Amino acid sequence: MINKCKLFIFDLDGVITDTAEYHYLAWKKLTDELGYKFSIHDNERLKGVSRIHSLEIILDINNSTEKYSEQEKIRLANKKNDYYLELLKNITPKDLLPGIEDLLDKLKKYNIKTAIASASKNAFTVINYLGINDKFDYIVNANEIKNSKPAPDVFLKAAEVLEVNNQNCICIEDASAGIKAIKAAGMYAVGIGNIQNFKEADVIFSSTNELNLEKILLDFNK
Ligand code: BG6
Ligand code: MG
Repeated sequence: MINKCKLFIFDLDGVITDTAEYHYLAWKKLTDELGYKFSIHDNERLKGVSRIHSLEIILDINNSTEKYSEQEKIRLANKKNDYYLELLKNITPKDLLPGIEDLLDKLKKYNIKTAIASASKNAFTVINYLGINDKFDYIVNANEIKNSKPAPDVFLKAAEVLEVNNQNCICIEDASAGIKAIKAAGMYAVGIGNIQNFKEADVIFSSTNELNLEKILLDFNK
């Protein structure tokens, strides 16, 4: 079989490690302090979405958008980030999600390049705690991306830097905004999680544990 996959692009939060849970806990702490409602169900809407946009969604849920100036919103988003950074200190190399190390080893064996395309401005901090800096050919810096997910920019940037055509990229995401970004980039989308969140995904696995590279490649190369 000729393999046309030349680049495999990973989302970080919720795919490589379970920081999705830490994002939730940090927002929960902030919303509890403010007396706002914010459930694990609401949190699904925040996955893959930028920090400030996440805050705007929370304020919208609580009919409080008008209460804050742009400066006050930045102050609240910074506060959430301080809580998040505290939680990140718990991360060690043991916190790679199951199946990810195995997938990276196989990609290397098949000579497929790898990249991380995260919406997080803390991505390099997380990657440092996990000790996986040297496992990827390129890590996109979210600070340099103009439009965040669901815009395709972060995925396009990885392909551009590594000089791979969009049709030769497979990307993996745990968020609806991320899957939309992948499809907008004209790339193949692997979804991790609940099937209802990923109508546009090409293939879905319920968790990273279930990932099957051979199955993905077989479908991709059809
Ligand atoms: C994404 C997460 O990866 O990064 C979102 O899924 C988060 O939940 C976004 O809001 C931005 O992260 P950060 O670390 O820049 O606040
Ligand atoms: Mg994610």
